[in-house]
Amino acid sequence: MGKDIEKQIAKLRRALEHHNYLYFVKNAPEISDQEYDRLMKELINLEKAHPGFADPNSPSQRVGGKPLSAFRSVRHAAPMLSIDNTYSAEELREFDSRVRKALPTTALSYIVEPKFDGVAVSLRYEAGRFVRGATRGDGARGDDITANLRTVRAIPLQLRCPARAVPEVLEARGEVLLDLSEFARLNKQRAQAGEPLFANPRNATAGSLKLLDSKQTAKRRLRFFGYGLGEVVMDGPPSSQGQALKTLRELGFPVNEHISKAGDIEQVIALCGKWQRRREKLNYEIDGLVVKVDSFGSQERLGATSKAPRWCISYKFPAEQAATKLLKIEVQVGKSGILTPVAHLEPVQLAGTTVSRASLHNFDEVARKDVRVGDTVIVEKAGEIIPQVVRVVKEKRPKGTKAFGPPKRCPSCKSKQVEQDEGGVYIRCVNPACPMQLRERLRYFAGRGQMDIEGLGPAIIDQLVDRELVREFADLYKLSAEQLAGLERMAEKSADNLVKAIEESKSRSLGRVLAGLGIRHVGTHVAEVLAEAFGSVDRLSRAGLEELEEIHEVGPIVAKSIHAFFHSASGARMIAHLGKEGLQMKPAAGGRARAGGPLSGKTVVVSGTLEKFSRQQIQSYIRSKGGRAANSVSKSTDLVVVGANPGSKAQRARKLGVQIVSESEFLKITVG
Ligand code: IVH
Repeated sequence: MGKDIEKQIAKLRRALEHHNYLYFVKNAPEISDQEYDRLMKELINLEKAHPGFADPNSPSQRVGGKPLSAFRSVRHAAPMLSIDNTYSAEELREFDSRVRKALPTTALSYIVEPKFDGVAVSLRYEAGRFVRGATRGDGARGDDITANLRTVRAIPLQLRCPARAVPEVLEARGEVLLDLSEFARLNKQRAQAGEPLFANPRNATAGSLKLLDSKQTAKRRLRFFGYGLGEVVMDGPPSSQGQALKTLRELGFPVNEHISKAGDIEQVIALCGKWQRRREKLNYEIDGLVVKVDSFGSQERLGATSKAPRWCISYKFPAEQAATKLLKIEVQVGKSGILTPVAHLEPVQLAGTTVSRASLHNFDEVARKDVRVGDTVIVEKAGEIIPQVVRVVKEKRPKGTKAFGPPKRCPSCKSKQVEQDEGGVYIRCVNPACPMQLRERLRYFAGRGQMDIEGLGPAIIDQLVDRELVREFADLYKLSAEQLAGLERMAEKSADNLVKAIEESKSRSLGRVLAGLGIRHVGTHVAEVLAEAFGSVDRLSRAGLEELEEIHEVGPIVAKSIHAFFHSASGARMIAHLGKEGLQMKPAAGGRARAGGPLSGKTVVVSGTLEKFSRQQIQSYIRSKGGRAANSVSKSTDLVVVGANPGSKAQRARKLGVQIVSESEFLKITVG
């Protein structure tokens, strides 16, 4: 029986890895995504039922494991160097001359690869099994991100060695990146959840690899291309870059298909020109090409400086720019009242898309660049997805243009209540009744990560605000089906459905409601943290600044903003009105602090490393026992749990006379 199950598990693991290989390396999947998911589910169920057969390199581990409290730092067996950059054909010819001068009698050829704009990683395999993955870090040491890299389906957990002995040690070097389409999907999701957007795919990739919870990384669909080797102990190791790429491919790593060999530097230069034009056809970002001397023997003789090898150079593409006319500067009003200037442009082709709007950031930037309506401007897309106005072509400025200053009135409500923000850079409309702000706030409130009110889209919200049917969030809950049916593009049936959807949103959890209010610095995540820590809107609104700051993940700026909101007349009114309309604002099931638990009403701080719990685990344990997990010790702390290497928190607790317990004592107090 045990043997059969072991066999079945092994068979499923092999099948799943094989289908990964077909999908990511061969580009020729043989089964559908659903079928893959079905096999995965079968494996996960079997492993759950028979935990004795667990294996960290099982494909089931690709869905992510337990969250970490921090990454360990690891030393690279061979350093991960950087590459010197060049920007012109001339500089490439100079590189070639240096190489030839050092190797006067050797025949030379180059391997030319895309320079992927992602995150470099090193993957270590021992006896064919993936044992460790790390970021480049400072080149000598990086972060151990093994758990996150296991979730990347393009990375083999086991090397394929059908026709060779399994390498004793093999470090594969390569780039983790996000497809442009996956990047767009992620940002769309984040926009709906009211989270800040990633500026570009590289940032999104780096962010994904730095998540401590690998289950979250698993959801990001990262990909990988291998392009180099670190430490290698194997029979018949490759002796050139061309062979190394071939070996990587045979061992099961995806290797990019657009890699070529060049006989001389003029061929390299021709390839640079070709890819500068063709890069936008790719579904991932490259910011140049990497040129490597092919032979490892030659590479060795050329050597390296402390920073970069002498056998390798990158050619970076110039940022893509285009000139066009600025037709209008629109001032947009965001949900927190910030006024943002946006350039409307005569449509122009740039990096594969038509651009008709560009960011001007803020009014300081407009003044610094002296951007005026009627100007010819240079727009650029440099990694960032949103095009920027980089400068004005002053020679082409028509007569009679006027400098564009910050508005004295809000473009939406025409109120004169516009103020410079704290830092002075932003200008904000502080009229609480500003219709544009109200519109933006309502859109956010009704959005996916917040109240999730289906059918309450921008077109409906605009009409509700214009007709003054809604002046604040609570007004949504007073709308009748008849009122809604009177709006444009609203059939009777959809009006009924919308009333139902609004009604249904009354049961959204406290965290969701808090996120929807649009309190500055309170996004989905902080809102959940607050909901869990306080359990009710009442307790939260009574919390003092110090109490707020004690919460893990709430810093002084965020605490101040939350405190100011609940102590303002408009904030208090907003909450009271929502309560009156019947919003439940209860903490989400599962995360709720247990009233009457052994830690009921107690604030607990942990200092040092615990044996049985990670940081996150102890926090949820404290909550599950009715307590509140705080980050710093103050007069209101009831209990400090000390682990190994406790720091200043334990000292402070002693000073303040707060009760201190060890991990085992704490367990004794709280169990049962
Ligand atoms: S080889 C010593 N090949 O470039 C050479 N690097 O500046 C080791 N990169 O952080 C790297 N595409 O992220 C190599 N085809 C490629 C590459 C590549 C992108 C990045 C890599 C590294 C940076 C070095």
